Amino acid sequence: MTLLVVRDLRKAFGGVEAVAGVGFSVGEGEVVAVIGPNGAGKTTCFNLLGGQLKPDSGSIRFQGREIAGKPPYAMFRLGLGRTFQVAATFFTMTVRENVQLAVLSHRSHLRRPWVPVATLAVAESDALLERVGLGALADHAVGTISYGDLKRLELAMALAGQPRLLLADEPTAGIAGGERHALAELLVEIVRAGGISVLFTEHDMEMVFDHADRVIVLHRGAILAEGAPDVIRADARVREVYLGSALEDEAAPREDRGDGAPC
Ligand SMILES: Nc1ncnc2c1ncn2[C@@H]1O[C@H](COP(=O)(O)OP(=O)(O)OP(=O)(O)O)[C@@H](O)[C@H]1O
Ligand SMILES: [Mg+2]
Repeated sequence: MTLLVVRDLRKAFGGVEAVAGVGFSVGEGEVVAVIGPNGAGKTTCFNLLGGQLKPDSGSIRFQGREIAGKPPYAMFRLGLGRTFQVAATFFTMTVRENVQLAVLSHRSHLRRPWVPVATLAVAESDALLERVGLGALADHAVGTISYGDLKRLELAMALAGQPRLLLADEPTAGIAGGERHALAELLVEIVRAGGISVLFTEHDMEMVFDHADRVIVLHRGAILAEGAPDVIRADARVREVYLGSALEDEAAPREDRGDGAPC
């Protein structure tokens, strides 16, 4: 079954058409990569799908239901999980408390203020933390953990919503070599085991071609090409606008910019 169907999605900022009529679909259990040069519209597209931005026009159907323009919490409860290009967590709380909040938010328990949050969803939160390799850091304040662990925490928080589709905007950006690949492997292992569909952006082409079932190439807010990784790798237009430079970057790894904060 097709989980997500996007049609003619548009979003402009002033005169800039960041997303200019994008349409694609994601099937059950499919891992789809969205690639393209800086400023191509990838994060804007994810923000439209996750509810952080409202589209100017277009349709987003998720599990047969129109969801375009719904707020992020509604998307989360419908089974649309999201991680950000820049990790988004509550810094003064502990690692476990962040996951507890995400679990409770999914269950709508936050509407019962007389129940102490600290006592709720502990086992479930700890299981999620174990799953992402953060079991030992459960009681640490989020502000004290490494950036790589922050990205793992964000993954646990997205999984707390029991997503059918995970939107991951540069899930490993800003993390160094070995840890970066370990996190990518973990993400793929979790989603494949759970039958969770994934739409992810990534500038690391090795990660894209290793893990994606299908690749969508965005350029100037529109889809330039879409297809199997091998087809995209060989596409002359894609090589011209993006892959040429991206593959050169692979040979000489660059610093991640880690920009594009969630709206
Ligand atoms: N909040 C905003 N206000 C104004 N312009 C914006 C805003 N967000 C994005 N843009 C513009 O929209 C275009 C698409 O940006 P977007 O962040 O979606 O690109 P991207 O593909 O995610 O790039 P990157 O690979 O650098 O993360 C760019 O021209 C950007 O400057
Ligand atoms: Mg971006």
